Amino acid sequence: MCGIVGYFGKRSAQEFLLEGLRRLEYRGYDSAGIALVEKGKLRVTRSVGKVSVLEDRLSGKVGTSMIGIAHTRWATHGKPSEKNAHPHTDCTKRVAVVHNGIIENYRELKETLEQQGHVFRSETDTEIIAHVLEEEMKTNTFEGAFAQTLKRLRGAYAIVAVSESSPNVMLAARLSSPLVLGIGEGEMFLASDVSALVGDVKRVVYLDDGEMVVLDVEGYVVKTLANKRQKKEEVTLEWDRSKAERGGFPHFMLKEIFEQPKSFADALRGRLIPEEGHARLGGLKAIEKRLRTIDRIIIVSCGTSYHSGLVGEYMLEEYAGIPTEVEMASEFRYRKPLLGKKTLVIAISQSGETADTLAAIREAKEKGVLTIGIVNVVGSSISRETDAGVYCHAGPEISVASTKAFTSQLAILALLSLYLGRQRGLSLVLGQRIAKELLLLPQYMERVLEHAPIIKKLAKKYAKQSHYLYLGRKYNYPNALEGALKIKEIAYVPAQGYPTGEMKHGPIALIDSSVMAIMMVPRDSVYEKNMSGMQEILARGSRVIAIGTEGDTELSQQATDTLLLPKTLEMLSPILSAIPLQLFAYYIAVERGYDIDQPRNLAKSVTVE
Ligand code: M6R
Repeated sequence: MCGIVGYFGKRSAQEFLLEGLRRLEYRGYDSAGIALVEKGKLRVTRSVGKVSVLEDRLSGKVGTSMIGIAHTRWATHGKPSEKNAHPHTDCTKRVAVVHNGIIENYRELKETLEQQGHVFRSETDTEIIAHVLEEEMKTNTFEGAFAQTLKRLRGAYAIVAVSESSPNVMLAARLSSPLVLGIGEGEMFLASDVSALVGDVKRVVYLDDGEMVVLDVEGYVVKTLANKRQKKEEVTLEWDRSKAERGGFPHFMLKEIFEQPKSFADALRGRLIPEEGHARLGGLKAIEKRLRTIDRIIIVSCGTSYHSGLVGEYMLEEYAGIPTEVEMASEFRYRKPLLGKKTLVIAISQSGETADTLAAIREAKEKGVLTIGIVNVVGSSISRETDAGVYCHAGPEISVASTKAFTSQLAILALLSLYLGRQRGLSLVLGQRIAKELLLLPQYMERVLEHAPIIKKLAKKYAKQSHYLYLGRKYNYPNALEGALKIKEIAYVPAQGYPTGEMKHGPIALIDSSVMAIMMVPRDSVYEKNMSGMQEILARGSRVIAIGTEGDTELSQQATDTLLLPKTLEMLSPILSAIPLQLFAYYIAVERGYDIDQPRNLAKSVTVE
């Protein structure tokens, strides 16, 4: 979604801010803008389209400013246009604000402000903030007025503001929308996403809801809106710039697909005790005893993280013996879930900022239920708001289409199943087997990646196909959903994911020679069932790309095209079969010429409802 960067320091603010915006491009946006404080005056420049357009607008005006704010906007209120782009200013153009989130009471505020004589230039909810600030500043300092303004806003926000009245001050605040403060040598940064700061800062402070931060020449102070100083921890930022760059790959998505053997190994690192057939999960240490009493698990998540949760359901029930349900966070938050004292709610999220997942966790916490997070972004809201958790350690995932985060989430879910299973009587032998196989997976993943050239050819062959059906069963059913999601989001091809066993109950009516099915048919406990499902589809004239197990000549003889992957435990097979699905979607999108890392209408992290 929208991206915010702020700079307060000793070098050219414009230079850093443009670079920061570029680093946030992956989040998805339709317009961009920048406000610089130059010799006590504000200079605002905005444009529709890419950051490069904004840069062109600014060219020739490098400026001397060392304080500034910038924004990439993903339209919510009002269409993408220059006048709707941030930063927004007040009537006097002496205050500028950038904002992520939604101001829910903007209509009533606007009405009041109009009655007071304010004139609006955009259709956005954000502009309201600048005008409320202007109004409050009639009787208060910039800082005091900022706190008063925040008290009048309802909804979600990360806001950064500058004003000509206090040209050496920058103010920021958050409520249900991420904002991080970066601390460098004699300079300070603000960003809605830590990846904008990687390489420039080593220490960060994650702001919490209801907090504001004041930056001035003395440094920074975090306060509540009631002016109470907050003591904040400065956290070391582990990611380095090389991890957030394309490194010779044409797209982040492809780079991240190819990173999976490493990111998977990183998720396991130091967490397996192969000889004891056990997992060591430091992030759960504090709640170890409580976890022994858990008798039900609910997983809440969205999109790809929801799909990994579905695989987790099979793992946790089979190996930990705990009844598990998975629910889309957007649904969970609005029903009246019945949660017992022994229920564990697990939130899975790459970003750790997804609004629905965060709201689901808050709902669970309100009911006194134990919560844990399986999160990639260290220090993100979900990681901080859950009682405990396990980080994925996948490194920055920049591509909007999630790939390596998915397989890392599966690594953690396998570790968790082992951990909870061994707490509950999963045998040593079985535990050892799972641990041993998990350690082999990175090299199996390397072998799967060797299929990339074949998958590229398949994508060329099927590039014009107008609809896909993804089918799988048991552990590979969630991957059918995931494969369909991938091709929809980056190649814009309608696709449906379905459990193979459900075909007869309706969807088989769709099958004819125009249909292209992608089926997961590994040599597992449902192999025979899958094979007959495939026969039924082939018999009705559809073509099938089958993803099976190495050595399966029977499958190769029957399917139209076949990809054979290394044999592993059934519970781990989706970790391997996810990769060809990701590659297929990627190469189809390449064939169709789309903007793969920034697909239309999508944002990397969905921080509003
Ligand atoms: O950051 P999260 O894992 O919470 O994000 C959840 C979904 O928004 C995300 O997985 C989305 O579906 C991806 N674009 C899928 O590739």
